[in-house]
Amino acid sequence: MYAIVRKRELAPHTNLFEFSAKEITVKTKPGQFVILRIDEDGERVPLTIAGANVEKGTITVVCHEVGKSTKQLGRLKEGDFVQDLLGPLGKPAEIRKFGTVLCVGGGVMVAPLHFQAEAFHEAGNTVIGVIGARTESHLIYEDEMRKVCNELHVATDDGSRGYKRMDFLKGLLKAKKVDRAIVMGPVVTMKTVSEFTRPYGIPTVVNLIPIMVDGMGMCGACRVTVGDRMMFACVDGPDFDGHQVDFEELMARLKMFTPQEKLAFVFQEEGGRSQ
Ligand SMILES: Cc1cc2nc3c(=O)[nH]c(=O)nc-3n(C[C@H](O)[C@H](O)[C@H](O)COP(=O)(O)OP(=O)(O)OC[C@H]3O[C@@H](n4cnc5c(N)ncnc54)[C@H](O)[C@@H]3O)c2cc1C
Ligand code: FES
Repeated sequence: MYAIVRKRELAPHTNLFEFSAKEITVKTKPGQFVILRIDEDGERVPLTIAGANVEKGTITVVCHEVGKSTKQLGRLKEGDFVQDLLGPLGKPAEIRKFGTVLCVGGGVMVAPLHFQAEAFHEAGNTVIGVIGARTESHLIYEDEMRKVCNELHVATDDGSRGYKRMDFLKGLLKAKKVDRAIVMGPVVTMKTVSEFTRPYGIPTVVNLIPIMVDGMGMCGACRVTVGDRMMFACVDGPDFDGHQVDFEELMARLKMFTPQEKLAFVFQEEGGRSQ
């Protein structure tokens, strides 16, 4: 059992959780994830690690509520426990001195992006940060990103704060020499930014979050196509070359279980109300 030692609401339906998990903390590197199960009957929920505090023996994740299990997690409080926390899983991000690193994050994935941006900063890179969200109230980790970025840009889908959408990046890429780009967030953001960097030949790493089950390369659920190769995001990634990923296939596979997910959500909400 893993205790929630800290919980904070960062934005609507978006919570930070700090779990006591000493054995995971000591092995964790930026870019890796855990798979969480709330109780014995719980679904397996992959979440990217947003921080690890070795002294306290805690890991941090930030979760946006989208369906049955993430809503259930959102209802837990400090002092509550989850049944399982498996990790760290996946390959760590490649962190070394590249020169100027552009770190682009959207929505809830800005939190784990910060973990990487901090590491790039500590490795001596110039870090240009870009954080985005649907609207101003959904922006997270702005202060934290400002501390580890040499410059930080903010964008929202509705223009309520900063630039409207990510199109301003075209001008930024024209004006600056960027040696590497990291993109974490919605598939559409990863696809768009990869197209922006392609003409400049900037190596672009995207952090893929397809549907996962075992997280260990055995079930095949997280299959993605990268160039002419089939890869499993849980063990071969989750970081891949954004110029090679088949984003259309990824988007289609993410929608594969939509009817079942909606049903599971309705059953849980109805069950929750009748209790
Ligand atoms: C490696 C990885 C890291 C992730 N990191 C984060 C994170 O840091 N913060 C965060 O809020 N979310 C993260 N996610 C997404 C999160 O795991 C899903 O939102 C969650 O599993 C949905 O479960 P649900 O029952 O609430 O919703 P459901 O109703 O089951 O699904 C809602 C949507 O989430 C996606 N999804 C469903 N099940 C899974 C699954 N097992 N694996 C991946 N996606 C799924 C589907 O596209 C679906 O449309 C990550 C996913 C992966 C694979
Ligand atoms: S989640 Fe099963 S192979 Fe990746």
